[in-house]
Amino acid sequence: MSCRDAIETNRAGTIGVERRRKVIETSERVKRLSGSERSKRPIAIPKGAIRLDMGEPDFPTPTHIQEAAKRAVRDNRTHYGSAFGEPALREAICLSLKRDYGVDPRPENVLVTSGGIEAIHVISATYLNPGDEALIPDPEYSAYADSVALFGGTPVSFPLKADFHVDFDALAERLSPRTKLMFISSPGNPTGRVLAEEEIRGLARLAEKNDFLLVLDEAYHKLIFSGVRFFSICRLEAFAERTLLLNSFSKTYAMTGWRVGYMVADAQRIKEMVVFHKALTICPNVPAQMACAAAAAGSQECVETMRREYEKRRDLVEQKLKQIKGLHTPPCEGAFYVFPRFEHPLTSQQMTEYLFDKGILVRSGTEFGARGQKHLRICFAASLEILEEGMDRFKRALDALG
Ligand SMILES: Cc1ncc(COP(=O)(O)O)c(C=O)c1O
Repeated sequence: MSCRDAIETNRAGTIGVERRRKVIETSERVKRLSGSERSKRPIAIPKGAIRLDMGEPDFPTPTHIQEAAKRAVRDNRTHYGSAFGEPALREAICLSLKRDYGVDPRPENVLVTSGGIEAIHVISATYLNPGDEALIPDPEYSAYADSVALFGGTPVSFPLKADFHVDFDALAERLSPRTKLMFISSPGNPTGRVLAEEEIRGLARLAEKNDFLLVLDEAYHKLIFSGVRFFSICRLEAFAERTLLLNSFSKTYAMTGWRVGYMVADAQRIKEMVVFHKALTICPNVPAQMACAAAAAGSQECVETMRREYEKRRDLVEQKLKQIKGLHTPPCEGAFYVFPRFEHPLTSQQMTEYLFDKGILVRSGTEFGARGQKHLRICFAASLEILEEGMDRFKRALDALG
């Protein structure tokens, strides 16, 4: 209904003439977004609750990165910058990709965005027309499906295997002539699974053969645990025309509030995507970009220190989860999430609400897709003390259910 039933007398005073007042309603796209399980999460957090629901580092942004932002402000880098991103940051991103993966992109291959989330929206807005389809694994980071729908496309989910790796048969069944994009994260949110090199090569071959753009979201690329091999999509130069690397400074450098992300792609794609990006933001925050240039080009010791700490936390959480009856936890190889499956008859959402009442906040698996049913996402980006207490509370709550 776009009209309210309320009727008021005409302001001009014409006696007996009445008109219906139109209510300024939110658009269908916003209604769809606010109807999602993710948006319905409680806003008021009970005092003393332990929060293992938020996906963000608890570390402060390293000092040398903060200092670079302060310098930028002092140097009056406080005006509009290039829509593509600050030259110093584009250079620093290229340098970091050479250092980390031995590849040699040019600044023309880089587009800096206001966080990874803006990059996701820029991709959807740039490439999707109504009816175009975007493949999204299930379970997967929920922003992809939201973004695809927001820009008029159709999210098409395909089930991952039980170990959260790609089921190529299930994927092949969902391909259609309207398939235009595919989004996937590695390391995965919410699964913590890292895609194998062969898997990424297989996806890239599929993109090449079926003419769609493969978006690999590597927002957690530096949070890889011992013994796990990470393969970045940027190493597949042969497929550059059909692949796109999406990344962010948020998780790697504990910079969620600075709002800087980036994409690396074919130079022509970057030119295509800058159009919507510029219309939306003009450019990302300039001092924040200068801070990110220091992050990308500077010493990576701070990243390794945080990664080691996350690994200790992952070990603690996995060990605590093993002591709980009726839980099965796939191994977490990267990022800072575990995604255990429970046997109790409650749904994921009901279990999340039950735990909320017990003072422990986690995310319902179904926020990430239908196959997240019976799963919970636990974020271990919290101190060992908090995790110790949180996991004990979690165990007590689950044990009480029998
Ligand atoms: C896989 C993944 N990609 C992208 C983002 C977006 O992060 P940001 O916009 O802070 O860069 C997130 C945030 O949780 C994420 O989990």
